[in-house]
Amino acid sequence: MTKLEDIVSLCKRRGFIFPGSDVYGGMAGTWDFGPLGVMLKRNLMNTWWSFWVDKRDDMYGVDAAIIMNPKTWEASGHVATFADPLVECKECHGRFRADKLVDGATESITTEEFLAVSPKCPTCGKQDWSEIRKFNMMFQTHVGPVDDDSSIAYLRPETAQGIFTNYKNVVDTIYPNLPFGLAQQGKAFRNEISPRDFILRDRECSQMEIEYFVRPEEWEQNFDELLADYHAFLEEQMGLPTDKIHDYDVPAEDRAHYSKHTIDVMFDYPNGQEELLGFAYRTDFDLSNIQKASGKSMEYRDKVTGESFIPHVIEPSIGVERLFLAVLSAAYVEEEDRVVLKLPENLAPYKFCVSPLLKNKPELVEKAKEVFAILKQKYTFVTWDDSGNIGKRYKKQDEIGTPKCVVIDFDTLEDDTVTVRDRDTTEQVRVKAEEL
Ligand code: GAP
Repeated sequence: MTKLEDIVSLCKRRGFIFPGSDVYGGMAGTWDFGPLGVMLKRNLMNTWWSFWVDKRDDMYGVDAAIIMNPKTWEASGHVATFADPLVECKECHGRFRADKLVDGATESITTEEFLAVSPKCPTCGKQDWSEIRKFNMMFQTHVGPVDDDSSIAYLRPETAQGIFTNYKNVVDTIYPNLPFGLAQQGKAFRNEISPRDFILRDRECSQMEIEYFVRPEEWEQNFDELLADYHAFLEEQMGLPTDKIHDYDVPAEDRAHYSKHTIDVMFDYPNGQEELLGFAYRTDFDLSNIQKASGKSMEYRDKVTGESFIPHVIEPSIGVERLFLAVLSAAYVEEEDRVVLKLPENLAPYKFCVSPLLKNKPELVEKAKEVFAILKQKYTFVTWDDSGNIGKRYKKQDEIGTPKCVVIDFDTLEDDTVTVRDRDTTEQVRVKAEEL
């Protein structure tokens, strides 16, 4: 069984992810991606974009500002309701999310329900608790030089509102047929009470969201189709095993304030099952609220019938870090004498590693550099390694998920063939260099 600590350690050892502000002792809930992490993260995000936007003819992209007019968050309900249940230990004054201390509890846990269980404080072990209070998770800031109530703004807690507020701009400019989707990738910020489980619950994360605008009477069919497509994406593009993905139909009392139907897609992470992404039927909640708050019509005029109405919305929303961790957990394998990341080829940071068998033989190094230059030109994501012995190089490339290692030896100088070693099977074959 893979342990989360093993993945955390690999990420640090190989330069995928470091704790945020590490040099100053860290900053809880923030993480920095190193050279390999950036490559994997970009591959995830680009594959998502290609699958959901580029390859479809009903999806378009937007890229909105992170700091939005604060009216956005009043109309969306976030100022009033985007809050988690906070409880404080009266002994050590540690503050925690109440629902995370009680097995099976949800965000709607009441003080009575919490005190009936009265769990031990994770810090001091005492059982003396405050009442539960709602803690708004939006990061507040001031915009401009005046530091008063008139300048309050928020870092966006979801990318979704940048899509809703641009819906009308898109309709007025490119007038797409219904149903159509608007997709956005970008940072979102949440002042989580207890960031935890490595990159699973962060204070700063990246989201990839789609708002899919549909005819109200067709929401269910669109919901089911998009959900099926998402399963295909997770399994075929991200390499997640089917038996580790589970749909959870969220009961009404636990749904977000805007949702009439939610399926949370759960994943079996090393530390247990957690939400990987959310699928919500947001009805016309957001567009109607924007219409009310802005006084601008959010209606869509049907091109055939001329009928005007506010479309309903299906929202698939996923966090990049959660997907990243799911992909790593699925790919991480410990074998007798090695650790290997069996990443799908489209996600692996490097496609090939090129090495000379011996680095102190100039003729081998020269030939290897030639092969490296050709492969780099052709595949871009190619790395060079002439450190240590060949066994150590394979070990390192296995740990960072490089699918193929190409080794140049004395036979290469004779017949221009190279050894290609496969990451997953460790089998080696000889092929002509030009056939790579
Ligand atoms: N626009 C809808 C929305 O934001 P959500 O369920 O709060 O819904 C959607 O978040 C997804 O964003 C989650 O399923 C998760 O993948 C990711 N996410 C949310 N909060 C996160 C956090 N604190 N750290 C990392 N990822 C997070």
